[in-house]
Amino acid sequence: MDVIIMPTAAAAAKLTAQIIADAINEKPDFKLGLATGRTMESVYANLAKLNKQKKVDFSLVKTFNLDEYVGLEEDNVNSYRYYMNYHLFDKINIDKRNTHVPNGIAEDVDAAAAAYDEAIAECGGLDIQLLGIGRSGHIGFNEPLSSFSSRTRAVTLTQITYQQNSPLFDNPKDMPMRAVTMGVGTILEARRLVFLATGSEKANIVAKAIEGPVTSMISATAMQFHENVVAILDKDAAAKLANQAEYKWSFQHDPKWAAYQKVK
Ligand code: GLP
Repeated sequence: MDVIIMPTAAAAAKLTAQIIADAINEKPDFKLGLATGRTMESVYANLAKLNKQKKVDFSLVKTFNLDEYVGLEEDNVNSYRYYMNYHLFDKINIDKRNTHVPNGIAEDVDAAAAAYDEAIAECGGLDIQLLGIGRSGHIGFNEPLSSFSSRTRAVTLTQITYQQNSPLFDNPKDMPMRAVTMGVGTILEARRLVFLATGSEKANIVAKAIEGPVTSMISATAMQFHENVVAILDKDAAAKLANQAEYKWSFQHDPKWAAYQKVK
């Protein structure tokens, strides 16, 4: 895993967007796994800006989101489909038919979840999966004790996630207790993982996810099994990492990051 520590959350988001845009420019029919949450909003604003400036083209890109609440219609402002349209898809030159979000309103949610994994496999797998982290240590909505070989499925959300996400609903009680999420196993099959966390409230869980022992109690530790991961942090989210100086040293000296030194 590479760990990149940026001075600010804005710089971390800009770097994340640049890495994604560069990868798409190398492979126009890119398969991109997307994430939601407050952290990602500025990544999407940066990608929309790069698209407007014609520095990245989404016309052949296919996207697959990590998760969706069970029971929320697409036009519900709290659904992740709505979030994606609002923050990204409506602002870039993507064909909406190429955008996928798990189906939380299917009659048979389990069958729809299995079909989601099949759709990812059929298009050749994900080139990059973008990941954030919840306070429970979840990636997607893989709450503690999610199997590392889990597939896309419906799950019950934990109380800590409920506390974290319910303030985003006009009426916090409207937050569904269940969601459909890509499994940890599904996520680990992506060819590259790009993880982004910012803010001091993430510092403890980020340190556990990156430097702590691997445990299904913190599904983000599963990233340690993946051979191509970059974790991008701002200095607040990195604050509890023991080896910050080493990570900064590697970022400055590894030639693969040379082009990114100028991102501020
Ligand atoms: C939700 C999503 C996660 C995301 C998390 C972080 O719970 N299901 O995929 O990582 O939010 O949210 P935020 O960026 O708002 O802290």
